[in-house]
Amino acid sequence: MTMLDTTHPFTADTHVVGQLGTGQTLALLPMTAMAAASLAPAIADIGPWAHYHFAPEDLQQSLLITGDGAIRYQLTCDGEPAGVVIIRSPWLAGPYLQILAVLPHLQGSGAGKLILHWYEETALAARMRNVWLCVSGFNVDAQRFYQRYGYSMVGHLHDLMRDGDDELLMRKNLAGRVIPLSPESSS
Ligand SMILES: CC(C)(COP(=O)(O)OP(=O)(O)OC[C@H]1O[C@@H](n2cnc3c(N)ncnc32)[C@H](O)[C@@H]1OP(=O)(O)O)[C@@H](O)C(=O)NCCC(=O)NCCS
Repeated sequence: MTMLDTTHPFTADTHVVGQLGTGQTLALLPMTAMAAASLAPAIADIGPWAHYHFAPEDLQQSLLITGDGAIRYQLTCDGEPAGVVIIRSPWLAGPYLQILAVLPHLQGSGAGKLILHWYEETALAARMRNVWLCVSGFNVDAQRFYQRYGYSMVGHLHDLMRDGDDELLMRKNLAGRVIPLSPESSS
């Protein structure tokens, strides 16, 4: 049996996230050059990346960075490219979800919910006390989505990416659900 690494539970492996109502399987796979090339232009067209006018080629490069402490996944739906997930862990007594992007054809299908569930359960299994993310001030749909899954705003980051645009730091406190180590298992 593989032991869970409680410091780095978000590994560069394939993680099955769950099944959509349609029966399609969502999975996270380590990012590849081919996936980054197809996903970057699609991501550049949506959400904060469109708002901030990220160039697809810059996004593509940023999806392939290694060694900066973040793990970059391609989201697939029945093996087809469906989005991007980037997680920084450890961050602050728990992981930080740096990017969550679901491609438009799957938005509203429950994919985001399944990913948040997997993110939280993976952190909890590693006895992490918090899960973190940021959302843009203008992105009220995404704010509502995160609030519905128990995230609350804990910081207002003025002018973080550019003047006049704020980012909101959100946290879900898992402390009440963390199972303490028993004396036997810690020895
Ligand atoms: C936000 C997002 C990750 C949610 O994933 P999803 O698979 O669409 O979400 P689910 O189907 O599980 O839940 C639907 C909820 O997502 C939100 N949502 C749906 N489409 C969205 C969109 N185009 N942009 C932002 N939020 C959206 C809504 O709040 C919706 O809730 P509602 O029923 O109250 O309208 C996804 O829509 C997305 O990637 N949007 C564009 C990029 C983005 O804004 N990412 C978040 C950056 S912090």
